[in-house]
Amino acid sequence: MNIEIRHATKKDIPEIGKLFSKVYTTPDFDGFTLEKSIEYMNWLFGRCPEVAFVAVDGNKIVGARLAGTKPWFDGIHIVDGEIFVGKDYRGQGIGLRLTEKSFEAAKKLGATVVDSATFIQGKHTESGWDIQPQFLNLEWHKKNGFHVIEQMAIISGDIDELINKTKEHIAEND
Ligand SMILES: CC(C)(COP(=O)(O)OP(=O)(O)OC[C@H]1O[C@@H](n2cnc3c(N)ncnc32)[C@H](O)[C@@H]1OP(=O)(O)O)[C@@H](O)C(=O)NCCC(=O)NCCS
Repeated sequence: MNIEIRHATKKDIPEIGKLFSKVYTTPDFDGFTLEKSIEYMNWLFGRCPEVAFVAVDGNKIVGARLAGTKPWFDGIHIVDGEIFVGKDYRGQGIGLRLTEKSFEAAKKLGATVVDSATFIQGKHTESGWDIQPQFLNLEWHKKNGFHVIEQMAIISGDIDELINKTKEHIAEND
């Protein structure tokens, strides 16, 4: 198999979106429709085209890495990244090669750090769908140089609940 790693272009976005949708559609999650995936990939590509790379098998896109940049106090951070490789193409070094190209391009832009989030074992939401094994890639990231920041957690909240709770808290203090 002859896989080429090259810069992604705007023209690739529909195909990248298609692959993203396929990777993230599972028996208990179908939120990333083709339309939503293309919209998301278009947004992410627009944040920093220079670090967006695809893996191609002939004309077929079989993997991609895209991310944004953030000017932080200690230099530019790479943020909100997505990496995904088609199921039939995993375990052949494509993810590593995409990462190498993308991070080298990021360094040329002045990036000093890559911040990322990844799934760990457990339920994703209170409603409780399991994270499938294909998304449990912390070890992969660790092996390639990432470390977990123990002092921080990813926090998330529904906007209505956040407003209500904040209002309740304000009322309690009045
Ligand atoms: C994570 C992902 C991008 C890796 O891509 P890949 O092309 O399969 O990875 P590579 O083949 O380049 O990895 C090569 C090495 O990592 C190892 N590896 C691959 N997946 C791994 C995993 N989940 N955990 C630990 N090691 C892993 C391989 O065994 C190989 O190691 P070796 O060289 O010591 O044998 C791919 O599994 C994927 O697309 N997963 C679904 C989407 C996803 O979860 N993305 C990450 C979101 S944070």
